[in-house]
Amino acid sequence: MSTNPNTDDFFATVATKSDSGALRGDYSQADANYVVAQNWDTFYTPEQHALWRRLYARQAKLIPGRACDVFIDSLKALDVSQGIPRFDRTTEALYKATGWQLVAVPGLVPDHTFFEHLANRRFPVTVWLREEHEFDYIVEPDVFHDFFGHVPLLFNPIFADHLQEYGKGGLKALKLDGLAYLARLYWYTIEFGLIRSEQGLRIYGAGILSSGGEVEYCLSSDQPRRVPFQVERIMRTLYKIDSYQETYFVIDDFEQLFNDTAPDFTPLYERLKQQDALPANTLLAGETNLPPNR
Ligand code: PHE
Ligand code: FE
Repeated sequence: MSTNPNTDDFFATVATKSDSGALRGDYSQADANYVVAQNWDTFYTPEQHALWRRLYARQAKLIPGRACDVFIDSLKALDVSQGIPRFDRTTEALYKATGWQLVAVPGLVPDHTFFEHLANRRFPVTVWLREEHEFDYIVEPDVFHDFFGHVPLLFNPIFADHLQEYGKGGLKALKLDGLAYLARLYWYTIEFGLIRSEQGLRIYGAGILSSGGEVEYCLSSDQPRRVPFQVERIMRTLYKIDSYQETYFVIDDFEQLFNDTAPDFTPLYERLKQQDALPANTLLAGETNLPPNR
């Protein structure tokens, strides 16, 4: 989950590029953009490839009828069930499809760096894989979350364009003191978004798609709210980082995501600064709460 509003706090409190602390990646070899070589041939052990295969197998079984079509189709074409993928191979196919590239990073990167990558159609993917005891839950994004969750959607041209615009918007938000609002948008769309289909609700958010439990929960449970996508409403809404989401926002299609985020956010940020944030479990008067899939 790459744009965490806390990312820069991490960087303020750990000496960046030291081995002392909270971030577990090795930042010592990273370049100025925090890019490292994946070193696929030497970096991963057979046990790590085996763990990937098990993570993949579990998730792949959950997604039919639950993930959106582009995710399912792209994942199949990526053909990465058998081990941690080589980023350079994926980049070849991805670049042809939408002009995006993958770059390897040691883990979370500063907000500015993250936005710079997206604005230039580069998606940063964490190199390391979680450990066995983190099979079900991991705090920091690893290669499984970043690759399995995020990369398939980058093959959709509209989504791919949207993510680049998001990166540009991030650089702008840094100047306008709007980062907290933009981070909520990312969270409730790129990470935890739902999309309508003719057969019912489907998932496109990477944080759900790489999670063992939330794939089923977000579509079928009676507990969370499922609210039609609305930019300003999302930007006012707090979110949970340590439990399943209490509210999901539902887009009609990727065109809506692209078009509704295209206007200049400057006046929106100004308005949001005058308002209190809404708790994660809010349902506003008059707001639709869409039923779960049956
Ligand atoms: N339209 C936004 C702005 O003016 C930029 C943006 C685009 C943000 C797409 C997110 C997604 O700041
Ligand atoms: Fe993510």
